[in-house]
Amino acid sequence: MKTQVGIIGGGPSGLILSQLLHLQGIDSVILERKTTDYVLTRIRAGVLEQGLVDLLHEAQVFERMEKEGEIHDGFDIAYNGKTHHVNLKKLTGTGVMIYGQTEITRDLIDARKKSGGVILEEAEVFDIQGLETDNPVIHFAQDGEDHILECDFVAGCDGFHGASRKAIPKEIIKTYEKVYPFGWLGILSETPPVSHELIYTRDEKGFSLCSMRHKMLSRYYIQVPLTDKVEDWSDDRFWDALKSRLPQNVADKLITGPSIEKSIAPLRSFVCETMRYGRLFLAGDAAHIVPPTGAKGLNSAASDIHYLSRALIDFYKTGEEKGLSEYSSKALKRVWKAERFSWWMTSLLHNLPNSEGESGDFTGKMQEAELDYIFNSEAALKSLAENYVGLPY
Ligand code: APR
Ligand code: PHB
Repeated sequence: MKTQVGIIGGGPSGLILSQLLHLQGIDSVILERKTTDYVLTRIRAGVLEQGLVDLLHEAQVFERMEKEGEIHDGFDIAYNGKTHHVNLKKLTGTGVMIYGQTEITRDLIDARKKSGGVILEEAEVFDIQGLETDNPVIHFAQDGEDHILECDFVAGCDGFHGASRKAIPKEIIKTYEKVYPFGWLGILSETPPVSHELIYTRDEKGFSLCSMRHKMLSRYYIQVPLTDKVEDWSDDRFWDALKSRLPQNVADKLITGPSIEKSIAPLRSFVCETMRYGRLFLAGDAAHIVPPTGAKGLNSAASDIHYLSRALIDFYKTGEEKGLSEYSSKALKRVWKAERFSWWMTSLLHNLPNSEGESGDFTGKMQEAELDYIFNSEAALKSLAENYVGLPY
């Protein structure tokens, strides 16, 4: 089998890239190790920066998002029993789009299939050869047999546990990582959201987030110790813990119901430098992970795909290689800013242990002082807002 761009991974990164290339007459094949049905069961954040919304317009996959998605002009941060509003629209001129990542993935798969796009399901890549040449070869297993895909370029869009990052020689790669000492327990429930906008809460008992997918589907999270198991958390225990962390006036309005999904996610910051090796280009979670506070995961993947799609299109249209050679450094510049913001927002709002040398509730006092500063300084609030809506590409 042969194509121009071999794409490993059929998550949002691989799908958007494939669609953008197709619209410019460039062929690609997506190799995805899971079934489409499985890919569509994964639940992830649904806060889209304008840059991603624009990219989905460019990909001509926006109709359902525009119809069913909701624009939020702001969100709340609560601490010490009170909510404080961050008016994104007033501070930055733009809001964010609330539309689930699962729905984006579904729309992209439909669009690729409609235009004859090739997505090979249950096709697991186990080796990539010839990355230093003009003719890389991807080796994958499907239906118990080994196959090869010959291509001009390989896009490594296969997430944190994928095969593509591992194909870069160890001596070339530098990785940076922080593992946080807690996780997020999340539930999805078919209940009306407690507020029309998101509420991030800092509380001594731990962080919580009230989010949503639409008017009758809520998504709530609470900070839990990493040692906790989903089975430890009945729905009732979850709702009680959430209520106890929210300001009273918010807790009083919370409508509870049975959970339709419940899971615990660990939190990690991770960056891999370089994002390019020969004819391999990493994008999205394959190259970087952020903790979910601030919802930068998918948005950072989108900025990678923005740079990578342009670089590949330039190469095929004009033979220009500048975009390809600058891809890694350009993408990483923006990635590090999203990493900084996610780390900062995580550190600001979670119940954290003191670092070495600190005593009393030093960390907690620093967090409170910083929050008080933010909500009393137009400059600090604006800095938070411009990062939340997304820095320019
Ligand atoms: N061969 C083929 N496919 C693979 C392999 C492999 N060896 N390893 C992983 N994959 C597939 C996974 O099954 C998954 O569907 O690659 C896909 C990667 O998708 P995501 O993990 O969603 O990563 P990405 O597309 O970069 O999405 C980035 O979306 O889900 C969020 O946290 C993520 O928000 C981030 C953004
Ligand atoms: C979500 O709705 O799942 C969500 C929203 C905002 C975040 C993280 C997750 O910061």
